[in-house]
Amino acid sequence: MKFFLDTANLDQIKAAHDMGLLDGVTTNPSLVAKEGKDFKTLVNEICKITAGPVSAEVVSTECEAMVREARDLRKIASNVVVKLPTTAEGIKALKICSTEGISINMTLVFQPIQALIVAKVGAAFCSPFIGRLDDVGEDGMQLIRDIRLIYDNYGFPTQLLAASLRHPMHVVEAAKIGADIGTMPYDVFQKLWKHPLTDIGLERFLSDWKKTGAKP
Ligand code: G3P
Repeated sequence: MKFFLDTANLDQIKAAHDMGLLDGVTTNPSLVAKEGKDFKTLVNEICKITAGPVSAEVVSTECEAMVREARDLRKIASNVVVKLPTTAEGIKALKICSTEGISINMTLVFQPIQALIVAKVGAAFCSPFIGRLDDVGEDGMQLIRDIRLIYDNYGFPTQLLAASLRHPMHVVEAAKIGADIGTMPYDVFQKLWKHPLTDIGLERFLSDWKKTGAKP
């Protein structure tokens, strides 16, 4: 499973990259707005840190304007992936962009049929939002299971990108199902290697070692 960071924060992206765990980055307009920087400059900076796919989302809602934005964003760096919303206009824009060779991540996916449609039209990535479905009392992980099954049934090359992951168990469940990618905020990423028994165990080892008086 590939790990993407769901953030536009350069320090967080650098930190994950330095650990060797960063396979790509996803951003959205809310995450970019939080950083208070020029959008394209920020995307360019992110692309300098990672060679993996970096999703940058359009903010237009009509096909023509979306395509214009997509072409523009694509010029920033070769690893930019354009995020389009899964609406009728977004799907039309996906068709044009995929024909032009622009790699597209279809976002705001909340039901299996949306995932099937975007795969048929040529999306490189499909982003179902797990946490937001859980928030409204639905089973977000079931959506990942359904999409995996559909994509495997027909051999779609579209990568299943489990998004809106809120805790490490979401990452584990998505990995067990076979999501190609999990994108997570930095606070979830930082919890991935944490276990209290690891810390307690290390403390015990070090205190026992200290008793010997030996140097490291
Ligand atoms: O970037 C898309 C998605 O991962 C957003 O997650 O936590 O805002 O529902 P969240």
